[in-house]
Amino acid sequence: MKKRIGVLLSGRGSNFEALAESVAAGRIPNAEISIVISNREGAPGIERAESRGIGTRVIPSKGLERETYDRQVAAVLEEHKIDLICLAGYMRLLSPYFVAKFPNRILNIHPSLLPSFPGLESQRQALEYGVKVAGCTVHFVDENLDAGPIILQSVVPVKDDDTEESLNARILKEEHRIYSEAVRIVLEGKYKIEGRRVLRTN
Ligand code: GAR
Repeated sequence: MKKRIGVLLSGRGSNFEALAESVAAGRIPNAEISIVISNREGAPGIERAESRGIGTRVIPSKGLERETYDRQVAAVLEEHKIDLICLAGYMRLLSPYFVAKFPNRILNIHPSLLPSFPGLESQRQALEYGVKVAGCTVHFVDENLDAGPIILQSVVPVKDDDTEESLNARILKEEHRIYSEAVRIVLEGKYKIEGRRVLRTN
């Protein structure tokens, strides 16, 4: 039986697209993206999913209390019998209800070397701080922002002539690579969690 992935996004959807490419190319074997959910109307990621023939749902979050909203999303994920939830540019903090419902089954990609620069505009934060390396992180999601045990990270240099855009682009390329790799590791169950550490097995 193929493992069923649900993707939550709010915008562009390039990480979704990278995951979809990896599934299609067999880099994430025995899996399918069963549903893509956006909390924002008009998210380009939804169009990208539709053009790949993947099922989509837009569930607007505006004005809804966090848990009320998350219950709606959880119901759709359950309806689709989702094994793994991938946040891909999903710009919402999850409620404790949602996190408890899917323990160790929610992954997030973040454009910094966590725990540095959580939150918004991480690449700009990195440039302003003056770090010489930056990168991205795939981690399990807990109820805190951009926290949870780290599965993979990738490091890129920060160059003297970098702008936010050039650094974004360098990091994004790595995001697309390590997100697929992390999803494969998790779906194959080739890891164990000890405290905050995610250790690879066999
Ligand atoms: C990505 O850079 C992702 O790491 C970031 O949003 C962007 C979404 O791009 N996520 C976060 O900042 C989460 N805290 P995409 O829609 O093209 O995948």
